[in-house]
Amino acid sequence: MDKIRIVGGTPLRGVIPIGGAKNAALTLMPACLLTDETLSLSNLPHLVDITTMANLLSQHGVSMSLNGHAENGGPTGRVLELNARTITNTTAPYDLVRKMRASVLVLGPLLARCGQARVSLPGGCAIGTRPVDLHLKALEAMGARISVEGGYVVADVPGGRLHGGHVVFPQVTVGGTENTLMAAALADGETVIANAAREPEVCDLAECLQAMGAKITGIGTSTIRVEGVDRLHGADYSVLPDRIETGTYAVAAAITRGDIELVGARRDLMHAVEKVLIEAGVRISDTPRGVRIDADGARIVGVDIMTEPYPGFPTDMQAQLMALMATAEGASMITETIFENRYMHVPELGRMGARVNVHGASAIIRGVPRLSGAPVMATDLRASVSLVLAGLAAEGETIVNRVYHLDRGYERVEGKLAACGAQIERIKDGQPAE
Ligand code: EPZ
Repeated sequence: MDKIRIVGGTPLRGVIPIGGAKNAALTLMPACLLTDETLSLSNLPHLVDITTMANLLSQHGVSMSLNGHAENGGPTGRVLELNARTITNTTAPYDLVRKMRASVLVLGPLLARCGQARVSLPGGCAIGTRPVDLHLKALEAMGARISVEGGYVVADVPGGRLHGGHVVFPQVTVGGTENTLMAAALADGETVIANAAREPEVCDLAECLQAMGAKITGIGTSTIRVEGVDRLHGADYSVLPDRIETGTYAVAAAITRGDIELVGARRDLMHAVEKVLIEAGVRISDTPRGVRIDADGARIVGVDIMTEPYPGFPTDMQAQLMALMATAEGASMITETIFENRYMHVPELGRMGARVNVHGASAIIRGVPRLSGAPVMATDLRASVSLVLAGLAAEGETIVNRVYHLDRGYERVEGKLAACGAQIERIKDGQPAE
């Protein structure tokens, strides 16, 4: 298993290209199932999760071709053409779904296009049980007949075509909103989604569906209306920049007191993160190519945050902010309201000298002048990157184990950081990279 070795203490200076959003690509790709024409996605990031989704779609019968590979995954990224002319299989098997929960996003499209689907339940993960009950209730409101058999969701549509429904989500669910949007696009009649997720990745999906011929209004608000159509056509669509990758590297600049330009980043997608970083003492400004994060000589102070659905502070940035707060002056409080177990990074940060106390959904952090490098264990994607960030600031050497978690969501993380002066290298299966 690969490891990442970091020697901390260097203020990062330079340029980091921001790639396409993982969590947009993972819902845009299954949207290809809704049409027999080609969906072409550009600015696609090069990530393990994207490959997993491609493997899942190909066993459904989707043909794909990957062309173009811009250097450094810049604004054009890779171009993936997907065509689901013939869907040969409507089962999403456990061995693929267990690797990546976003696989459940084939459920809505398969029901809409084929009238049936058999999708393994994703099971829990490190950050929580993460059920899909709200996805299923929404699809039942649109006429799907659903049962759970042998760990699989078994669904079909009496009469063959979903009908519009009135879906009210008791709590905001990104995936639930995405599955419902894709199902509603081809349903017979109007679907209203109340308490819909407003995340930019959900808006990206809605705008791609519109480009494919879907009739959707209320995008970006908590009430979305979809007038179903008989068929959708192909489209060319560019994946929006990854706001979580942007926020992660903004914290890398802040925690090392450096100065980095994030090329391709969009400030309008990250107001909540920007507000917190400015309050903590970071200077943020526009550049012709993106966003500049300047923490050179900054005095970083503790800030309290609570994670919330968009446009609130994103849960996917919670671990990264905690690493920064561990090195800030004063105390801060973080409250995680989205997932029930998203503090797996706390004991690992503690090994590096961070002073964090967790009380239920809240964590109190008392900043320390310097963290100290240590061998640490990655557990989930965002916890892993928070350990890399802490390592960049720590005194001495940090070894992050199990970096396969990182590769699921961050393209060439060590290359992008090393280009800004970080002393970081990947140790492949115990051998330093040549
Ligand atoms: C998406 O997960 C993201 N993943 C997550 O990013 C992100 O943390 C999350 O949204 C919240 O923003 C992708 O987009 C691939 P939810 P999702 O449905 O859709 C509960 C990362 O690091 N819930 O909004 O699974 C659920 O347990 C990943 O990139 C139900 O109870 O999240 C959670 O507590 C991690 N029943 C809350 O709602 C349901 O049917 C929010 O989940 C669905 C969700």
